Amino acid sequence: MKVTVVGAGAVGATCADNIARKELCSELVLLDIKEGIAEGKAQDMMQTATLLGFDTKISGSTNDYSKTANSDVVVITSGLPRKPGMTREELIGVNAGIVKGVCENILKHSPNAIIIVISNPMDTMTYLALTSTGLPKNRIIGMGGTLDSSRFKYQLSQHLGCSASDLNAVVVGGHGDTTMIPLIRLATWNSVPVTKFLSAEQQEKIVKDTMVGGATLTALIGTSAWYAPGAAGAALVESILRDEKKLFTCCVALDGEYGQKDICLGVPVTIGRNGWEKIIDFELNADEQAAFNKSADAVRSMNDVLKTL
Ligand code: 2OP
Repeated sequence: MKVTVVGAGAVGATCADNIARKELCSELVLLDIKEGIAEGKAQDMMQTATLLGFDTKISGSTNDYSKTANSDVVVITSGLPRKPGMTREELIGVNAGIVKGVCENILKHSPNAIIIVISNPMDTMTYLALTSTGLPKNRIIGMGGTLDSSRFKYQLSQHLGCSASDLNAVVVGGHGDTTMIPLIRLATWNSVPVTKFLSAEQQEKIVKDTMVGGATLTALIGTSAWYAPGAAGAALVESILRDEKKLFTCCVALDGEYGQKDICLGVPVTIGRNGWEKIIDFELNADEQAAFNKSADAVRSMNDVLKTL
């Protein structure tokens, strides 16, 4: 199996590091446009192989896509990250050109690849990857909800004083500070609704802190986060290559599910060898559906910006 990670910045390198540590593939290519950075980080990671005990061969490439040939999965992290005070949406102009070009180059050498999009604004970049490549919809997966759901579980675990691994909780909708919808009504602590243990104020705080989870880290660090985004990308790669059919929230093309069409938005999906395989389409309550529709409107107007570029 072969995986390519495009973009050797912090998110891309962390994603590659996680993929290698888990030995998800035999060959891993890290590619970046900046001279030497991918080669350097690839070598640095290879020098951890004997320490960490993995056999994945990692190589770096400065923009030579022939090195990525026959990749089974490609993770796209390229583009500008957020600066403090910036929304993900402000990145659209620059990142759209980058993501479109990356998709074209990737498909020249790996026509059968499944593409995971991490670049922001993630919902619009996923839509762009889908519409510009014309690939079957199952092969384009936006990572956002996987990360947001993990952040949601973290916030819940802090209030419940429990292991985040014992929690089931999903964030649907867009991957934006105002477009994501943490479904606290449905979150459980080993099957028991978390709402039984949390006051209304706590629930409100958890939801709010989850929604601004990325912005909070950007303000603290000075740039976008990378550990959880990289790990979320790697978790999707794992479910694809091991055909795990695990349930994640991912940004995928909707065709009537959750009442939406012609849009990529975060919903629960199974992830396996064919990419995203099945959307779990269940009935939201009236408030959640209204929030989902509002989120879709915001993402759709962002997608419309693509037409003006
Ligand atoms: C985040 O939320 C990178 O969008 C990503 O941290």
